[in-house]
Amino acid sequence: MPETPAKHPRIRSIEGYHEAYHLSIHHPEEFWASVAAPFTWRRKWDKVMSSDMASGHNTWFEGARLNITENCLDRHLASRGNKLALIYEPNDPKTRHLRLTYRELHQEVCKFANVLHNNGVEKGDRVCLYMPMIPQLAIAVLACARIGAVHSVIFAGFSATAIADRVNDAQATVVLTADGLNRGAKQIPVKRVVDEALETCSSVRRVIVVEHLGWPVHMEEGRDVWYHEEAADVPKTCPAEEMDAEDPLFILYTSGSTGKPKGVVHSTAGYMVWADYTFRNVFQVEENDVYWCTADVGWVTGHSYLLYGPLLAGSTSLMFEGIPTYPDAGRFWEVIDKHSVSIFYTAPTAIRSLMAAPLDNVLSYSLDSLRVLGSVGEPINEEAWYWYYQHVGKERCPVVDTWWQTETGGIMISAMAGITPSVPARAGLPLPGVLPVLLNQDGSEIEGNDQEGYLAIKQSWPGILRTTYGDHERARQTYFAPYPGYYFTGDGARRDENGLYRIIGRVDDVINVSGHRFGTAEIENAINQNPHVVESAVVGYPHDVKGQGIYAYVICHEGAVGKEADKVHIEASIIETIVAEIGKIAKPDKIQIVTGLPKTRSGKIMRRILRKVAEGETSSLGDTSTLLDPAVVDEIIAGKK
Ligand code: WT7
Repeated sequence: MPETPAKHPRIRSIEGYHEAYHLSIHHPEEFWASVAAPFTWRRKWDKVMSSDMASGHNTWFEGARLNITENCLDRHLASRGNKLALIYEPNDPKTRHLRLTYRELHQEVCKFANVLHNNGVEKGDRVCLYMPMIPQLAIAVLACARIGAVHSVIFAGFSATAIADRVNDAQATVVLTADGLNRGAKQIPVKRVVDEALETCSSVRRVIVVEHLGWPVHMEEGRDVWYHEEAADVPKTCPAEEMDAEDPLFILYTSGSTGKPKGVVHSTAGYMVWADYTFRNVFQVEENDVYWCTADVGWVTGHSYLLYGPLLAGSTSLMFEGIPTYPDAGRFWEVIDKHSVSIFYTAPTAIRSLMAAPLDNVLSYSLDSLRVLGSVGEPINEEAWYWYYQHVGKERCPVVDTWWQTETGGIMISAMAGITPSVPARAGLPLPGVLPVLLNQDGSEIEGNDQEGYLAIKQSWPGILRTTYGDHERARQTYFAPYPGYYFTGDGARRDENGLYRIIGRVDDVINVSGHRFGTAEIENAINQNPHVVESAVVGYPHDVKGQGIYAYVICHEGAVGKEADKVHIEASIIETIVAEIGKIAKPDKIQIVTGLPKTRSGKIMRRILRKVAEGETSSLGDTSTLLDPAVVDEIIAGKK
């Protein structure tokens, strides 16, 4: 595959930004046709876009044929074959790191793709991945894309029940996993979790296990195979399946305000163009950059900005298996110095946890190689922004605060490093192609600056989700029906006096814990599985490190809680239930056992009151006179954790 001749358009100045923005909004077809031109297409599109924001049917580059891995790998081979594509830094700094050039990565992906083929995976099949942050995860994702299988990565911190829900919803036929994983000082037997999950998954006929820790694992006869045995003599090349522009590339499950996580579906061509364009422009990537995104591939950030964006752009992407505080709070900075990282992209929660450690942990590293810093996942508070800017970026690196969502496929509102304004606590200006609006509760648009409202997007962009897997009506209801004609984000935002956007946070029943999304109903459903529990209500509250913490109010069966000791026991049991239903990441920070919840006469829980109590703002509870039993509020306040 020859390197494509035309250069990918890049914004280099504020004037260039305004020009591109104007064109993208007023002549989107012309704009995106020129952005898409330099990719490798087997067949060019018939139509750049078609959009119906009422039903949520959006398509991009219809009629085009391509394979995204030809764009990530093959087209770089001639000019960048020996350039590093992937650097893997293991959990334990004493273990050797690994580097793969584009040529090597191409080979590994082809081998894995052949193994998938040999195990019966075909175009359109769904493959679930439950894997550690190791090169084989990146390779496996790309291998799926190579043969046209739809990948659905499940973050390897989810429980067996959560895996089963996702595997069953996607009706996956194959699961990829490993013997175990490292997370700081802990080791987790992931294969065992998969085994437990698959007890209730009848669609799965093959499990391919990657050897990582060298642990003995149970291999189910007729179902489970070792990757290294399967890969022993497969060819090092594999033709890329020709895909339609709108064929699904992946499913990624995410939480919403209803109980069950939904499978957000992204398609091939639009996602590719969006991931590439946003990556190059937001981070202002140059040929020699070493880029590090600390997100796990189990989240959308890992999809778009650890794998697809960087590889599409021919960059060197670093993949880190460990955690920020292992073996100590200097690990991130040590890795940056070790690999001369120039662009670093992480989450506010990680920054806040490292701010709490003695400053020496960061000051003892040079960090000279850094050029651009990024933040993602939740609002970054000013204190964390300044710490990041000052102590990590040494006041010489622009900070880009990137706002986006699983559903948007890529960054929507953000500074472009060194080009558009980067102001603490502001995501900034919309990227070309993004038309944000602020809405009133009644759905009318709020004009002008210095205004606050519900954040919605008025025009389709290439990375917009295509559907929720197996249930388009759910996508329509969630994103397109609340304010007809707009994509509704679920976030509240402020447009400041200069037109820069500040994201305030979710306006629905979603809480953002350390950059991870949970629906309050989802956690309540889990808690209600506990045999002691009658009813529960979950709210978020401000948490110094996590951004938001989880506060659970729980009513237990009469007689279950008598003495204090019973309470301790029941709380531990509730936590166990949540860990089993969702995973450790959804553990509540506080559980308060109550005898009643504040309900209206029609039986609706007044969460506003529960949120105020959790926030410690009991003096401003507002009107409680419509409550069925106002006395429960006093009890709740008295027992506040
Ligand atoms: C929600 C999306 C974006 C990929 C990782 C999370 C919040 C995300 C920011 C930011 C303020 C942010 C929003 C959004 N969020 N980035 N820079 N500033 N809030 O993806 O799990 O789909 O969560 O995360 O509330 O709606 P996600």
